[in-house]
Amino acid sequence: MKILLIGDIVGRAGRRAVRELLPDIEEEHNIDFTIANAENSAGGFGITKKIAEELFDYGIDCLTMGNHTWKNKNIYKFIDSEPRLIRPLNFAPGIPGRGYSSFTKNGRRIITANLIGQIYIGPFDSPFRTIDKHLDSLQLDSDILLVDFHAEATGEKGAMGRYLDGKVDCVFGTHTHVQTNDADILPEGTAFISDLGMTGAIDSILGMKPDTIIKKHLTGLPTKFDVGTGSVRLSGAVYDHKENKIYTINKTYNQDE
Ligand SMILES: [Fe+2]
Ligand SMILES: [Fe+2]
Repeated sequence: MKILLIGDIVGRAGRRAVRELLPDIEEEHNIDFTIANAENSAGGFGITKKIAEELFDYGIDCLTMGNHTWKNKNIYKFIDSEPRLIRPLNFAPGIPGRGYSSFTKNGRRIITANLIGQIYIGPFDSPFRTIDKHLDSLQLDSDILLVDFHAEATGEKGAMGRYLDGKVDCVFGTHTHVQTNDADILPEGTAFISDLGMTGAIDSILGMKPDTIIKKHLTGLPTKFDVGTGSVRLSGAVYDHKENKIYTINKTYNQDE
């Protein structure tokens, strides 16, 4: 079983990267199951029903979210009825959506869980104590258990990797939009990477047009960020469950809009 993990898809450019590059990547790497972080897929912030459906149509099996989950208000209308879309499990109890979901692929039960960090990202319940509460049943109900840890600080991500080492199959980080060079198998056998990176415009700052970001830093005024355009890149990792390997991938699609 080979699982493709796609880093934060940013806006139209990110969706174009998925559309143009995913078929080749899935074929080249013999991918059985694909997970992508989609918290930035609609105009850079949040997700809509239409965009979730578009991403599923491109061949993505499971979408995870993060700190931008609620940016598009219409998510409340569909998040409860879309089991392939998950949001962090350690959000407050009782709110819409689900923090993990199970899938069956080639006769194997895959569970993806989504957690969010606490350092430099917001006040959320402890992702460590939250996953603890669910771990026994998640292990029991799955053959392959994967965790998207959506967090800012690499130290917190590293701690989650080691905390879940030997308890889940793979912990992959999202949110920073910058791919890390630490994909590895931890001592107890869990595959880990701090951050998958970003899927979107290459000529950008974290997926958004550089001038709008620089203006914000120069002036401190509220600034509308625009999604980058031009050539795009899909960044992520491949987790090979059978071989217990994880390696990063980066594929570029050159086309001017
Ligand atoms: Fe994020
Ligand atoms: Fe993001």
